[in-house]
Amino acid sequence: MVSSLDGFIAKKDNSVSWLEGPGSVYERGVSISDEEAAAFLKTIDCYVLGSRTYEHALQLGWPYGDTPAIVISNRKWPLASTRKSVEFYSGDLKTLVDTKLAPRYRNIWLVGGAMLSQRFLDLGLVDEIKLTIAPVLLGGGLRLFGDSVAEQRWNLKDVVAYKNGFVELSYSATGA
Ligand SMILES: NC(=O)c1ccc[n+]([C@@H]2O[C@H](COP(=O)([O-])OP(=O)(O)OC[C@H]3O[C@@H](n4cnc5c(N)ncnc54)[C@H](OP(=O)(O)O)[C@@H]3O)[C@@H](O)[C@H]2O)c1
Repeated sequence: MVSSLDGFIAKKDNSVSWLEGPGSVYERGVSISDEEAAAFLKTIDCYVLGSRTYEHALQLGWPYGDTPAIVISNRKWPLASTRKSVEFYSGDLKTLVDTKLAPRYRNIWLVGGAMLSQRFLDLGLVDEIKLTIAPVLLGGGLRLFGDSVAEQRWNLKDVVAYKNGFVELSYSATGA
């Protein structure tokens, strides 16, 4: 996930222009080519999205290609899906991971948003966190970690600073 310096993953109006905005330039940082980014995305076997993130992703122009995507929603009405790769799931999240995801997919990417990520964290269903900090203060919006996550220790595995001032922090769960 990408968070602002003050811990927000979305502005109140859902706009994401802050992700691109005029950048700072960090000379000692690295940059990745489009080919490297595409190669990384190929390693992802499945995406998991909360329904609000799904709706936002559709508005922005679906960025997940034909990779399987599971949308979590308890809504009674069927969400319109125009893509064959998208499946909806309602119910227990541990059952989803144990019976549908883990047997089929190796690298499962929980896209978010905040509500769904907090739930997965609370249930101990996350083994790796990749958090990218954007060099911007938003002053308000949707908190990445609300009050609902219980205290947990995570192991820092990697830190990558990018030329555009973004910093990617990778953590693994204790014992993973
Ligand atoms: N900066 C980033 O890296 C990043 C990443 C991802 C998302 N986002 C942004 O985050 C915003 C959406 O996040 P959000 O926190 O509002 O919503 P969300 O987590 O995307 O979706 C929440 C919805 O998921 C469904 N759900 C079903 N079971 C659930 C459960 N056990 N726990 C939690 N949710 C469950 C519910 O859908 P129903 O109401 O349909 O039942 C709930 O309303 C968007 O603006 C998106 O663009 C930012």
